[in-house]
Formats: sequence, structure tokens, C-alpha cells
Amino acid sequence: MQETTLSGYVRTLYGVEDDVLQAMRADAEEQGLPAIQVPFELGRLLQVLVMQSRARRILEIGTLFGYSTVLLARALQPGGRITTLEVTPKHADLAGANFQRAGVDDRVEVVVGPAVDSLRRLEGHEFDFVFIDADKASYPVYLEHALRLTRAGATIVADNIWRDGGVLSPAVGNADNEGLAQFNRTVASHSRLLTAVIPTRDGRDGTSVSVVLP
Ligand code: SAH
Ligand code: DHB
Ligand code: MG
Repeated sequence: MQETTLSGYVRTLYGVEDDVLQAMRADAEEQGLPAIQVPFELGRLLQVLVMQSRARRILEIGTLFGYSTVLLARALQPGGRITTLEVTPKHADLAGANFQRAGVDDRVEVVVGPAVDSLRRLEGHEFDFVFIDADKASYPVYLEHALRLTRAGATIVADNIWRDGGVLSPAVGNADNEGLAQFNRTVASHSRLLTAVIPTRDGRDGTSVSVVLP
């Protein structure tokens, strides 16, 4: 079929998903997990950002079955490590098995529990790349932790910051969109962040990419 979207065109042109990633997606579907992993274009953006910044310590908030984690792990420098936070034990278990299957389990640690609790326990750790992709209502809190756990030059990426325009009218008591709108306002005006917003899913969603300033 002729591709008529940019994301489809790019996936067709660049996107050879290997057997491991394919099997991970198939197993997740079979086990009833939602297929809300990063789309191809965002997976690639994460890999480019990690490689070009030579990130060594990555923090991910929201593991699901580990799809984005495996992509991040494959972009890491030798000796690099990822800590990924997940509240749902079923997701964390499947992710753990996937890290073994992908051969990246030596580089990845899954921390099970509410991310805010895990983040508090990461006191004293330092990360040079943070990917925020868990419950949207908590994005403002995750940003505070991301800033606490990084230094100048670090990258902070946040997925789903547009939600088909849902962030424009969050006043209807939608905690997810309210959280995202608050996150966007804070990022946009923050003196220690310089931020670009990248459309994903053919403009139906977006991802913010921030560099931490001195
Ligand atoms: N980054 C993944 C997708 C994550 S989906 C990928 O692209 O492959 C969001 C995940 O966040 C889900 O697995 C969900 O269980 C988890 N989550 C939701 N609320 C959370 C919380 N309070 N703490 C930690 N994880 C949470
Ligand atoms: C959805 C997509 C995401 O990337 C996410 O993190 C959560 C939800 C969604 O399409 O519903
Ligand atoms: Mg997401």
C-alpha cells in the first residue's frame, strides 16, 4: 500500500524492526498490554539524542514492556546504564524478560513502584538523559525530579505533550491534560531549560526535548 503519511513513509524508508522488537510487541499484545510504546520516529529521535550527547546514565519514567528502553540501551555508550521506573508489576516482569531477550539486561535496572517514590530514593544519583513517559498528571513532579537529578548539559525528553490538542482545553477536570499543560508552561518559561517541541504521530502528538542550562 502506498504510504500517505510522513510517519508511515519514514517507517517504510528507514524502519527495519528486528526479530527481538517484533517478538516483544507480539508478546505484549498477547498479554493484553496497551500498544502505547514510542512510535518509530520517536524511538529513532531518542537514539540520535543519546548517541550524539554520549549519554552514559539514563533515567526512564514509564517502562511498559521495555520497547523504548531497548532502543535507548542500544544507543548507549559502552559502560552506560539505564534505570527505568514502572508501577505495574506485570509490565515490569515482561520488560525484565525482554531485556534478557534483547541482551541488554546487564545495562538496565527496572525499579517497580510508583515513580514518585522511586525518584525520591534516587537521591544522590546523577543522570545525563531523562525520558518522561508515565502517567501524565505527574509530569510536573517528574520534571522537578529530573531537574534535581541532572546537571547542565543533560537532556530531558517528555512524550505526549500535545495529545491531539488535549492540552489546550484541560479545564474539564482531565488530570492528564491538566498535568501536561502545567508541564508545558513550566518548561516553556524555565530559566534552566532550552526546549524544542517535535511533532510525532503526524502531528497528533508531540515530544519536548530540553537541554539543561547552567
Ligand atoms: N516508555 C514506554 C511506554 C510507557 S507507557 C515505551 O515507549 O516503550 C506508560 C507506562 O507508565 C505504563 O507501563 C504504566 O504502567 C506506567 N506508569 C503509569 N503510572 C505510573 C507511575 N505512577 N509510576 C511509574 N510508572 C507508571
Ligand atoms: C498513549 C500514548 C503514549 O505514548 C503514552 O505514553 C500514554 C498513552 C495513548 O495513545 O493513549
Ligand atoms: Mg508516551
